[in-house]
Amino acid sequence: MSDEKKKQPKANLSWDGKTVEVEMLEGTEGERAFNFSRLKAETGCYAFDPAMMNTCVCRSAITYVDGEQGILRHRGYAIEDLVEHCSFIEVAYLLIHGALPTTTQRQRFSRLLNIHSMLHEDMRSFFGNYPEGAHPMAVLSAMVVSLSSFYPELRLDSDKEEIDITVTRLLSKLRTIAAFSYKKSIGEPFVYPSHRHSYCENFLNMMFCSPVSLYKADDYDVAVMNKLLILHADHEQNASTTAVRMVGSTGANLYACISAGICALWGPLHGGANQAVVEMLEKIQRDGLTPDQVVAKAKDKNDPFRLMGFGHRIYKSYDPRAKIAKQLCQAMLKKKRLNDPLLDIAQGLEERALNDVYFQERNLYPNVDFYTGLIYRAMGFPKETFTVLFALGRLPGWIAHWQEMHNDPEQKIMRPRQIYTGPGKTEYVPIEARD
Ligand code: ACO
Repeated sequence: MSDEKKKQPKANLSWDGKTVEVEMLEGTEGERAFNFSRLKAETGCYAFDPAMMNTCVCRSAITYVDGEQGILRHRGYAIEDLVEHCSFIEVAYLLIHGALPTTTQRQRFSRLLNIHSMLHEDMRSFFGNYPEGAHPMAVLSAMVVSLSSFYPELRLDSDKEEIDITVTRLLSKLRTIAAFSYKKSIGEPFVYPSHRHSYCENFLNMMFCSPVSLYKADDYDVAVMNKLLILHADHEQNASTTAVRMVGSTGANLYACISAGICALWGPLHGGANQAVVEMLEKIQRDGLTPDQVVAKAKDKNDPFRLMGFGHRIYKSYDPRAKIAKQLCQAMLKKKRLNDPLLDIAQGLEERALNDVYFQERNLYPNVDFYTGLIYRAMGFPKETFTVLFALGRLPGWIAHWQEMHNDPEQKIMRPRQIYTGPGKTEYVPIEARD
């Protein structure tokens, strides 16, 4: 039995003069949980936990987060090391296959990514049917689920080769769909993927090359793009990954599950925050607000405004991804000799908020979305594409969780319960007698 599954001392749960023993589970990093999987069977009661704030829904060997210490590791590797030394493709391989690739494995993975980068030509016409101004996340989610009608679905008993092909097809095609939806939104012709480019270089080329302006992706931008995608690659049981697992638990195909993850990510409380942060900073600039005024607004309980890019369900200290993103942002603007007034506003806001008792008492720090939008902006991405870039980065994490869930004998269809608070049995009244 693995350390992770080893049995811990039991706790006693007592009520109405009865007592049941509850097993204690412990993860490899020492985090503990009461095993309530037989709670209803043994007590007749459910656990009430709105928003699953205290609930572990699975055992997982993919990502470890310690929100108190600001630690993030994938398959044991610190995020700082992965960002420093790896390409996004290597991290994707690590998440999906459980180990960093050897040179041969990496070459094979890159070859598969190249082979599967094209979209079926019939899918091109779909892009033309979205109205002008369609949000790229709407296009992305719809196009990803459409892939299921063009390519074979992955069966649960698929062999390794089939899984590898479907997984690389998705990784590769999501990048092409993301770039095509941007080109469609600005009315430019699509640029096809090329086997000559690496994963991120290919993406930048498909985004920014056009027949009238020769484009060669800058090495620095390619390196930063790799780092940003790595920062987003996985974050254990976040809302979008839970959506992927939830839909996957019904037996739905991988494309449908990823499409659900994309929709969940879109929300401004989750991945949509990167767009919301830049919109917030633009508004602050337009309205000429001071950091004091913005922080006062964020603290005002009668005002729905929140400081976007601040706060996190798990991190109660500085998000390690935000720390890296902030450094990347400062370095990129310096390298490109850009003076973005929004960075000054963001840094001023951060300093003001971190020195405010309201933010200190609630442990509210910048999260990954606070600075990433400013980097994308400096690279020339329009803000509507920011969450698409997050999705591109998060894809290997979603795939890894989808696989892990299907290989986990403890998993079943996810079906939470509720405490019913509606009316008791009510007599039916015919419509004519309702006035
Ligand atoms: N600005 C102002 N106050 C905030 C903020 C914020 N950004 N975030 C949390 N708070 C306050 C809440 O009002 C609450 O105060 P109270 O205790 O007086 O009621 C307290 O801090 C706790 O907040 P909750 O909403 O209960 O925390 P939760 O864990 O549910 O939410 C979330 C986390 C959604 C990220 C929240 O901090 C937020 O809305 N942040 C802004 C949106 C954002 O940046 N999202 C991206 C998150 S990272 C990611 O998903 C990739």
